[in-house]
Formats: sequence, structure tokens, C-alpha cells
Amino acid sequence: MNASLLAGRDVKQLLLEHPDIDLLLSKLESKQITGILSPKILEEITKEINLGKQEQKTQIGRTIAPINPPKIKQASRPHGLEHYDISLFETNANEVDVNLEVLFEITGNSITEGRKEDINSFFNNRFQRISAMIRQQGLPNRPITISKLIQERRSRSGYSSSTTILGMVNDPKYTKKGHFMFVLEDEGAEIDCICYKEEDNPNPIIKTGLMQDDVIAITGSFMDNNDIFRVDEFHRPPLRRHQKKSSEDGVSVAFLSDIHVGSKTFLEAQWIKMIEWFHNDPLAKTIKYLVLSGDVVDGVGIYPNQDKELAIKDLYKQYSRFAELLELLPEWVECVLLPGNHDAVRPAEPQPALEPEIQSDFNSTTFVGNPCSFRLHGVDLLSYHGKSIDDFVSMPEVSYEHPVEAMKEMLRRRHLAPTWGKKTPLSPEPEDNLIIGKIPDIFVTGHVHGHNCSEFKGTTLVCSSTWQDQTAYQRMLGFQPQPCILTIVNLKTHASASIPFA
Ligand SMILES: [Fe+2]
Ligand SMILES: [Fe+2]
Repeated sequence: MNASLLAGRDVKQLLLEHPDIDLLLSKLESKQITGILSPKILEEITKEINLGKQEQKTQIGRTIAPINPPKIKQASRPHGLEHYDISLFETNANEVDVNLEVLFEITGNSITEGRKEDINSFFNNRFQRISAMIRQQGLPNRPITISKLIQERRSRSGYSSSTTILGMVNDPKYTKKGHFMFVLEDEGAEIDCICYKEEDNPNPIIKTGLMQDDVIAITGSFMDNNDIFRVDEFHRPPLRRHQKKSSEDGVSVAFLSDIHVGSKTFLEAQWIKMIEWFHNDPLAKTIKYLVLSGDVVDGVGIYPNQDKELAIKDLYKQYSRFAELLELLPEWVECVLLPGNHDAVRPAEPQPALEPEIQSDFNSTTFVGNPCSFRLHGVDLLSYHGKSIDDFVSMPEVSYEHPVEAMKEMLRRRHLAPTWGKKTPLSPEPEDNLIIGKIPDIFVTGHVHGHNCSEFKGTTLVCSSTWQDQTAYQRMLGFQPQPCILTIVNLKTHASASIPFA
């Protein structure tokens, strides 16, 4: 009444329930509204009051100049993987024909009988080929044989008489004081060697160590009254920055390994999620090849009590199921499949391709042995399952968490699996087929169920991800795998993308 307003029965209840009657009245007064207060007027003014309150909340202070709208940021990705730039993956796989050339794999060419002569020839071949690579870069002295060094022991003592020898490493170990000791052996003799740990300028080999059966050259001299050769310098095959080749076609290659179909821990739901992605995502349309680097099934009898962890207990049914799962991929994807230590081939490396009876279940798949060098549209790839990483982890810098360090070590010594008689069974072929003759443009491994995609001296290193969840054995060791990550590399731009599905 005081505000010259007449409130009828229809607004009485609304006024009684109004949250801020004073504000309402002053608003009506400022708008010079008097007379009968209808529900419509009341509703309109209440709306204005609420809007004003909201604006007050968001606007702190006065706007004295227009503010640029905030830039939209991409949300952080699961697994901490980087975003990729789709413009670097331009060509649809459907637009180009398959261009795959296998350069080396062992299938049909394993000729060893496993005799002593075969083993000798295997090691001699390695010694000669890696020695030739080491000599290529130029050594400080002309190398002599170890037997000549022993004969001339007296004249080759002391710091001033440096000598270079070539040989194969045996029994590498660290002393309690951190010095590095080993035996070096060539075709005729062997000698004990030591590299002292010097605090000011430590030799890099002290940090990384060497592997049993590595081929190296060393420069040093005998110490007084001692038959141990003191090493000052180590020489390895040269590892210059590699100039990657690029394809004219901008199609991509994707990498996976260790699918372990047949195991109860195979992640089928995530596989289906990836299949849907393959059919719908623009990046997937550029994927012409899928490289599967071994352990595609879990196998049978690979480790004690494995049957308790198997969902499919028949080996052939495991492969048939995997063939069905691959069949779900779009028709433009061509697979390259090599075996691993869980597959149905001999464990000794190089391993041949899966047998024809298994191959007959699969479409659009090229079966090769392990390791395999091949060329896709002019780009050189080396794919190796990676069993020898089990040996490389004995080196101080290599661990199952950082398997890519093992890959770098393989490139440094130009050998995929140097050590005989430990965790990696080797087939003593007359030629050592595990030597890395040419540095590849893309080097890929699997086996350790981790994931990595990085660059090393101009080569792309891919540690392909698994499709198996943590196993009971891994849980016991406290190892956390990185499953369900598809790594994609474009053959023209060499851009990479890692897409998680778990
Ligand atoms: Fe595996
Ligand atoms: Fe494996």
C-alpha cells in the first residue's frame, strides 16, 4: 500500500514466498510501476532481479576494455600421450596400392644342423662382419691379433705403448670397486681386460657395461708386472645420425604386438572399441599397414600351469579366434605378422613364419619370420619381437620399464641378440642373421608389454603395446603393463600418434 501498489489475491502467495521483497519493491519503484500488481508483472521483475544477480556473480569489477574470449585448450589425454596433428596424416589408405617388400626373414632358409662347426661358423661370421664395421670408422692403431699381443707383451707395456685389438666379450663383470672386467677372445687366443673406474673422466662403458658375446675393439696397454690388459678406449661400429627415407605416399603404418589371444587376460572389449575407431576415425583411414610383432596368441605350454590362465586351451583355436578378430578391421588394412616366443614356431631365433595350416585362417595378412626387415613404400623397417630384452635388462641402464634403452643398445652394437646361452635361444646359422646390417628408418619391438615411440639418432623407435592386461606373474613382480595403445607412424611425414583404448 505504501508503494502505491495493490496486491490482489492471485499474487498474495507469490509475495509471501518472494526471497527478496525489499529489492522487488525498490525495483518496482524505480520503474514507476504503481496500481494493480499482476502475477505477470511480478514474474517479469523477479526474472530481471535474478539475471542481475547472476551478472554480478561473474563480473568482478568494471569492464574498462573488451576482453578476448579465452582460447579453447585441448583436454589432457589419458596415459599422458601427446596430441597429434591430423594434417600430418593426409592420405587415405584406399587411395594407394600395397607396396611391401620383404628384405630379410629366415623362413625356408634355416640350414643349421646345430653342430659344433655351425656354432663356430655363426660366431666367426659375427666377428668378421661386426669387426669390419668397427674398422670402417678408423681405429687409433692398426689392430693386431690377441696371440701377437701376448707374444709381444713386454714391448706393449706402459702408458706410452698403446695397442688395439678386436674380439668377442666373455664374462663381463664389475669388481667391488666398480672397475669393469672381461675376457676378450678372437679366433686364436684370449686375454683378461680391465677398464678402471676413473672418477674425473669415467669411460662411458663403465656406465653401460657390455653384453656377453659382444664384438668390440679396445685400445690400451699392459700394466707393469701384470697379464691384464688395461683398456683406455672402446670402439664400436659407427652410429652416425641416420637420414630417414620418406614415402611419396602419405599412408601410415600402425604397430601392435603381444595380443595374447587365448589368455583370460586378453582385453576383448578394448579390441572391439579399437575396431569401431578403425571404422570411424579420420586418422584410421590413413592406416594402410598393421605390423603385429609377435605373441599374437598366448600359446599352450609356454610356462608352468599356463592352462589355468587360458580361456582358449587349444592352440589352433587361439589362432582362429585371432583371425576372426583381425577380420573385423576395415578392408583397407594389410597386416604383417611375425612370431614371438609364445607363438607356434621354434623358439630359436631367427624364428620362421607361422605354418601354412595356421596362415590359411587369415586374410590380408603377410606372414614373416622374426626378425624381419621389410620396406613399405621405400621406408625401411626392422621388426623384432624383443625376447633378448630379457638379457639386455642385466645392463645397468636397461630395465623392463625402459625397454627402449635396450633397443638403443641393439643399435649401438648392431646386434639384436648378442648373448648365447642365456634367456634368448639362438639358432646357429652359418651367417649371423641377427646382425643389424643397415640402420632402419623405423625399428620396432614388443615382448615387454610396455609402450614407447621416440627418436634415436634419426631412427624412429617403437616399443609396441600389448592387448593383454596385467598377468598374475607380472603382478607378483610388481610390473604394470601399458596395454591397448595403438602406435601410428606416417610414412611420408614420419609424424607419430599413440591412441589409447583402455
Ligand atoms: Fe608377450
Ligand atoms: Fe614375448
